[in-house]
Amino acid sequence: MSCYNEFVRVPIVAANWKMHQTLAQAQNFVERFRPLVRGVKSTEIVLAPPFTALAATQEALRGSQIRLAAQNMHYAEQGAYTGEISPPMLCELGCEYVILGHSERRAQFGEGDALINRKLQSAYAHELISILCVGENLDQREAGETEQILARQLDTDLEGLSAEQIGRLVIAYEPIWAIGTGRTASPQDAQAGARFIRGQIAARYGGRAAQALRVQYGGSVKPGNAAVLLAQPDIDGALVGGASLDPQEFAQIVRATAT
Ligand code: PGA
Repeated sequence: MSCYNEFVRVPIVAANWKMHQTLAQAQNFVERFRPLVRGVKSTEIVLAPPFTALAATQEALRGSQIRLAAQNMHYAEQGAYTGEISPPMLCELGCEYVILGHSERRAQFGEGDALINRKLQSAYAHELISILCVGENLDQREAGETEQILARQLDTDLEGLSAEQIGRLVIAYEPIWAIGTGRTASPQDAQAGARFIRGQIAARYGGRAAQALRVQYGGSVKPGNAAVLLAQPDIDGALVGGASLDPQEFAQIVRATAT
C-alpha cells in the first residue's frame, strides 16, 4: 500500500491516437464512442487526436464530458519553427491537455529532457495540463536501472516547477518495452513504477503534491488487463495507444476505472 492514497484522485484515461485517424475516422469514432461512456462522471476521459483532427474532434465532442488533448507542442508562442504547433494554437482549438515527452518523441525525434522541461514550463504558462511520459527501455530494465532512469528523467523534466504545479500534473509511467508490443507490465511492476514516481515527487515537492499527482500506466493496456492495472493503489488511470482506436475497446477500458 502507498501512504499517499487517502486523498481521492479522479482517475484519468487518455486515448493517444498517434498518427492515426483521418477527419472522417475521428468523427466516426466520437459518434460511436459518446453513447458508450454517457453517464461516466467518476473518470476523466481524454482524447488526443493528431493535430489535423483536433478541431473536428472538438466539434464532435461538443456537449460531452470528454476532454481534448494534443500529442505534442512547441514551447514557443509563435515564431520561425516550420512544422510546429504552439500552445496558444492548441488552446484556441479547445485542448485542455498536452502529452509531452512520449517515448516515440524521445527516441525517434531526438527530444531530450531539457527540451521537454521547456515544453512543460510553457504548458503551465498557457494553462494546459501536461501528461508527462517517462519510462525505461528493455536494456535499462534488464540492467536493473529502472528507478535510476525514472529519477533522472524526472530531475530534468520537472526542473523549476513548483509543488503547486506538480500537483496539477499527470505523469504516465510507460515502460518502453510494453508500448505497442502486446507485452504489458505485470500489475506489480506497473504499481512499482507508479509508486516510485509518486515517492520521488513526495521527496522533492512534499506529500501534498504527491497525493494530488495523478499517475497513469501506459503500455499495451487492453480491455482484458485494464481493471487489474487500474486497481493498483498508485495507478490513477491509463494512457492507451492501440486499443484506443476502437470505440468499444476504449470504452471498456474507461469503464474499468469507473465506479
Ligand atoms: P500502446 O501505446 O497502448 O499501443 O502500447 C501506449 C502509448 O504509446 O501511449
